[in-house]
Amino acid sequence: MATQANLKENKSVYQTYGRRKSRGWSTEDDALLTQPFCHLDTDFKEDILPCFFPSNDSSGQRWLEIGFGHGEHLCAMAQAHPDWTFLGAEVFLSGLTSCAQSLVEQAIENVHITTIDARRILDHLPENSLDGVSLLFPDPWPKTRHEKRQMFSTNFVMTLKRVLKPKGIFRFASDAERYVEKVESIITKPAIGFRQLWKVTSPERPGLPDWPQTRYEAKALQAGRKCSYFHFESTKEDR
Ligand SMILES: C[S@@+](CC[C@H](N)C(=O)[O-])C[C@H]1O[C@@H](n2cnc3c(N)ncnc32)[C@H](O)[C@@H]1O
Repeated sequence: MATQANLKENKSVYQTYGRRKSRGWSTEDDALLTQPFCHLDTDFKEDILPCFFPSNDSSGQRWLEIGFGHGEHLCAMAQAHPDWTFLGAEVFLSGLTSCAQSLVEQAIENVHITTIDARRILDHLPENSLDGVSLLFPDPWPKTRHEKRQMFSTNFVMTLKRVLKPKGIFRFASDAERYVEKVESIITKPAIGFRQLWKVTSPERPGLPDWPQTRYEAKALQAGRKCSYFHFESTKEDR
């Protein structure tokens, strides 16, 4: 958990990089941000679970997608699993409005989206609260001097383990070979508490069941880059 002192100094703990808005921001975009399923940083509440997963129905699964981009995977997963609830975290505001537009147009009701930094959300989620977390094509930060900006780290995976239920799933994909190697080398350490259920690596789109394609992934495959896809399962025991 982040300490209270750290949380007050939020910027230094959760510094984000890259663009937050693209050019051509419109009044329609402003209107989309007022949708009830859309949460801005200013809406942050310590008691994060009832805010983002308001359904009292505990029979469906709860999933978090980190850095959903424009939300293709998030929306398609929500449509495929109407009895599950999804939270998408994306710091890029234009991605958020693009996803909000799809949610409205497709009348998808089991998704909340937010611009709150995914690491802040993870730090505030209670133990054993999620069935799955997806991190798909995170910013690769390929230069060695920028590696510390990468989302995945030992700290990140320990937090994942805390918030995932026993047998909870961590879904990961990337086209950045060094990033993939880093994830595999950290998460497969026995002390970390995850087991690899499967891995698919392909220069073409593999026929992955229940895994809708993302925008970044489509571009990577079109450019002929090799993509790797993983499911890891938490080995945490039921209490
Ligand atoms: C390379 S893009 C991939 C987007 C999408 N997953 C896809 O595959 O099309 C990575 C995304 O992660 C978002 N991101 C980076 N850091 C984040 C953070 N701390 N919390 C939430 N989103 C973040 C970026 O804004 C960016 O849109």
